Amino acid sequence: MKAIRQYEFGGPDVLRYEDAPIPDVKAGEVLVRVHAVGINPPDWYLRDGYKALPPEWRPNVSFPLILGTDISGVVAAVAPDAGGFSVGGEVFGMVRFPSVGDSRAYAEYVAAPASDLARKPAGVDHARAAAAPMSLLTAWQFLVELGHDYPNPLQSEPHRPVALDGKIVLVNGAAGGVGHFAVQVAKLKGARVIAVASTTHEAFLRDLGADQFIDYKKTPPEDAAHDLDLVVDTLGGPAAGRFLRTLKRGGALFPVFPLGFSGAEEAEKLGVTVSATQVRSSGAQLAELARLLEAGKIRVAIDSTFPLADARMAHERAAKGHVRGKIVLVVQ
Ligand SMILES: NC(=O)c1ccc[n+]([C@@H]2O[C@H](COP(=O)([O-])OP(=O)(O)OC[C@H]3O[C@@H](n4cnc5c(N)ncnc54)[C@H](OP(=O)(O)O)[C@@H]3O)[C@@H](O)[C@H]2O)c1
Repeated sequence: MKAIRQYEFGGPDVLRYEDAPIPDVKAGEVLVRVHAVGINPPDWYLRDGYKALPPEWRPNVSFPLILGTDISGVVAAVAPDAGGFSVGGEVFGMVRFPSVGDSRAYAEYVAAPASDLARKPAGVDHARAAAAPMSLLTAWQFLVELGHDYPNPLQSEPHRPVALDGKIVLVNGAAGGVGHFAVQVAKLKGARVIAVASTTHEAFLRDLGADQFIDYKKTPPEDAAHDLDLVVDTLGGPAAGRFLRTLKRGGALFPVFPLGFSGAEEAEKLGVTVSATQVRSSGAQLAELARLLEAGKIRVAIDSTFPLADARMAHERAAKGHVRGKIVLVVQ
């Protein structure tokens, strides 16, 4: 098969399009002929050797390395014990996240645990289906249902979503992969949604259901918003603490990228909960989400597509920022 492989950590230019062996199908796995690959920040974190993350988070990997988690495609083979799928069926999934297995997504074939896959939503093309898993599962696991009881690597307690019906929810980074799904999920669950993004995304976000738009290029959102019930900060990091004062006592701040957050003391004084989680693969949740995608209740926006061979260009596009929706690799 063809795949994108790398022999060292580094920038987008380490990504090479070349021949690679089709992965073996192990117990419990399904071999998927990949039609499209959704790309996500952990792809460039791994490409780069997880330099921005604490050493204990850096996975042990061997080269040549294939990146990626999110796929949509057609079942090519099924291990005898991998129930629920048959050859020729269309599937999508986030494969093996956060663990790092041998078979990854930037390839013509991926061997995926059956438990990470779900049937592709009918009427949603492979590019859109591949674009959804990690970003949509992140929005869902933060906002609606954690869906597992694995220990939380980011805090001592499990993450707990909060009730959304009738609440005021601000989504920062609203136009991006996680953000555009968070806006739609919060709306679906009855919240009034304030979307924060740069100027050009206003019409896009209003079309997705945002009730109010804050252009962070013109107004700092932490000055414009107040009395909020929940802030979902998809940018997170050290700056997430500026949102604490926008929240009501009893409100919550969910920094989707929580590393570097230092506002715990202030949060306690203000009576605000701060909580985060790390997204995990879940075919069961994707099956539920597939119904919402199929019904058009959640839409997938595509920023741009690139042939698999041009994965390097897709990573360069991501590095330029201002992504609207998702970047997808299309496999011929
Ligand atoms: N906890 C988890 O398990 C988990 C899972 C998935 C992702 N993440 C993390 O979540 C973060 C977002 O991921 P993503 O896939 O959504 O990224 P993305 O698709 O690149 O989206 C980022 C968005 O942020 C916007 N943005 C940039 N600067 C901004 C600012 N100052 N204020 C408001 N918006 C701003 C960008 O557009 P504009 O600037 O044009 O508005 C863009 O739309 C990443 O750090 C990722 O690692 C965590």
